[in-house]
Order: sequence, then C-alpha cells, then structure tokens
Amino acid sequence: METTLAEAFKQTSYQLSGHSPRNLEVLKQALDQANGETISDMYGKGEIIEDFQNKMAGFLGKEAAVFFPSGTMAQQIALRIWADEKQVKRVAYHPLSHLEIHEEDGLKELHYIDTVLLADEDRVIGLDDIKAMDKDIACLLLELPQREIGGQLPTFETLEAISVYCRKQNIRLHLDGARLLETLPYYKKSASDICALFDSVYISMYKGLGGVAGAILAGETSFTEASKVWKRRHGGDIISLYPYILSADYYFEKRRGKMGQYYQDAVQLAAFFNQCPATMTIPEVPVSNMFHVHVAKRKEEIESLLAAIYQETELGLTSYLKETGDESCYFEVSVGDSFQTIPKPVLERTFKLFGKGINELTVHE
Ligand SMILES: Cc1ncc(COP(=O)(O)O)c(C=O)c1O
Repeated sequence: METTLAEAFKQTSYQLSGHSPRNLEVLKQALDQANGETISDMYGKGEIIEDFQNKMAGFLGKEAAVFFPSGTMAQQIALRIWADEKQVKRVAYHPLSHLEIHEEDGLKELHYIDTVLLADEDRVIGLDDIKAMDKDIACLLLELPQREIGGQLPTFETLEAISVYCRKQNIRLHLDGARLLETLPYYKKSASDICALFDSVYISMYKGLGGVAGAILAGETSFTEASKVWKRRHGGDIISLYPYILSADYYFEKRRGKMGQYYQDAVQLAAFFNQCPATMTIPEVPVSNMFHVHVAKRKEEIESLLAAIYQETELGLTSYLKETGDESCYFEVSVGDSFQTIPKPVLERTFKLFGKGINELTVHE
C-alpha cells in the first residue's frame, strides 16, 4: 500500500517548518525554569499575569496590554470596542483575513458587525483601496504579514500613509500582528515603531515564538480596560492562565532574537524552491519567515513524489498539499528552529530529487 503524505511526513527525522514536534515537551521545558512556589494568577489578576502584560506593553510601545487565551477572542473584542466607540457597526479588512475565513463568522454572529472586504485576494491592502471605500467604518484591520497569500507585506511608507489617513478620517487602525515579530527584520524596525502607527495591536504567542497558545492585546489603558470586561463576557478570564503565560514568556525570550535568522533562512529556502521546475514561491523573495510554495502539477502526483522523497532523505517538506486547480497545488513554509538542524547534504539531496521528480512528471505527460 502506498504511504500517504501525512504518514510519510510523520516518519521523517527533519522538517522544513516550525521549531519542534507539538508535544508536551514544549510546556515541560518552559515549566522547568519556573519556581514552584510562585502563586498562580486568578481571574486576570496577580503578579504572574500583570508583570507579563506590563512587559509586553513596553515591548510594543503601548500604555497597557492584556493576555488572552486566543487571538480569535482578542481581535473580535478589539473590533467590538471600536465599533461601540464610534457607534458604527462596520469594519474593514482583507478578504482572506483570519476573521473572514477561519472564525465561523464570530464577528457577525456574536457582535452583529458588518465587514467591508478591501483589496483583491492576491495582494495586500493599499491606501487607494481605503480611499475608494464608500462606506463609513469604525476600524480598519491590517494583517502583517498577510498569511494566506504567503506572508506578503506593504512597505513601511504605505503603513505610515494608511495610518495618517485613518487618523484624519476618524477610523481606528487595528494590527493583526499574529506574526509581527517575524516582520521586524524585513522592516528593520522595532515592534514599537510599527505599533505606533496603530490604535490597537494583537500579537500571537505561539506562531513564530512557539509558545503553547495565547495572545496579547495592547493599546491605551481605556481600550485594554474595556477589553478585560469583554474577556470576562467571552469566558476568556480563565481562573489560571499561567501555563500559557509561562510558556509565552519563556519562548518570547528564547526566540525574539532569532527572527532575523528565520527570515534569512526563508530567503535561502525560497531560492531552492524557485530553482525547481514548475515551482514558484509567493512571495518570490520572502519578507518574513514564511512563504507559499506553488507547484503547477496535479496534487496527487506531487503527494506521491514527496512521500517517496521523504522515505529516502528523511526530510519532510510539508505534511499536506492544498489543491488550487486540476494542475496546481501549494503548501506553506514557516521557518523556525528546525531548519538549522537539517544537514546540508540532506537538504541538497532533497531538492535534487524534487527537481528531478518534477522533470520526470513533465516528460511522461
Ligand atoms: C493572522 C492570524 N490572526 C489571528 C489568528 C488567531 O489566533 P488564535 O489561534 O490564537 O485564535 C491566527 C491564527 O492562526 C492568524 O494566523
């Protein structure tokens, strides 16, 4: 019986994306450093949560920050606060934003907030898209980087221009910065330089940083205090969030300085893919630690090819492929600690086999 791609991937010794397997070791490592006498947080209060919130507020250059169990909860709440403030139940964001495609319409179903979808699916939002909008909105959400299109980014100048325009038009600007730290080496800016352009900011503690889960929502104190009320209403005020907070803090310290390395590795890796026939990355040259790999071949053919390569080289490129047409499929690469553990000969051999395999598919067609 032929091995499926996911099964073959599970057997590999090296993986292109991520940091390590998603197992309990992630939490155990973080807790190893902790003092067992430390008192737990209780319903959003206590040193352990307050210290971390203050630290993240400082890092993001905002007055205050709140720890949330998830970005999904934090962002719906942020948009609700801005909609209430302006008494306009409408916000705008990209058609492929997390809120639009991954949250089962939480914003619409729970908060009755309408949305305006800005820009075409395959590019990021520009100032002209916002200027062309004919409806009043309370808030514009920008996602940096735009994950579903390979992690593309607007220029910093565009961000500045959007920020100035929104302030003039009385539109709040919210940052979906799930992967904000991953963009800093490209922008050559600090987190607070970027956050200064936004009224409210969310960052994830588990994407490039690799904690267990959790999110930070930051802004002015009046905003974060309102967000705490909504966090309670959403059931997000879990009696003790410390397992998430400790892992968030541990991996924040461990990986905040590694984002430049991940970015450089992503650029190098994308070049490897772009040398293979019928293969291209989006963006062609990554602007963060992530990119998408598009292959102009049938999904099933590439699945068989990859599974065979994994068995031979023990390097897993991806566990899945998404079909985009009869003759096209793609997968996401998100570089973390794993990449540096791959021996160079293994990497080179894998790409050699991948290129050769695609060539052979072409010849047989
Ligand atoms: C861009 C973006 N925003 C928001 C979220 C939501 O984060 P969470 O899983 O913590 O709810 C994600 C999660 O994948 C994301 O990629």
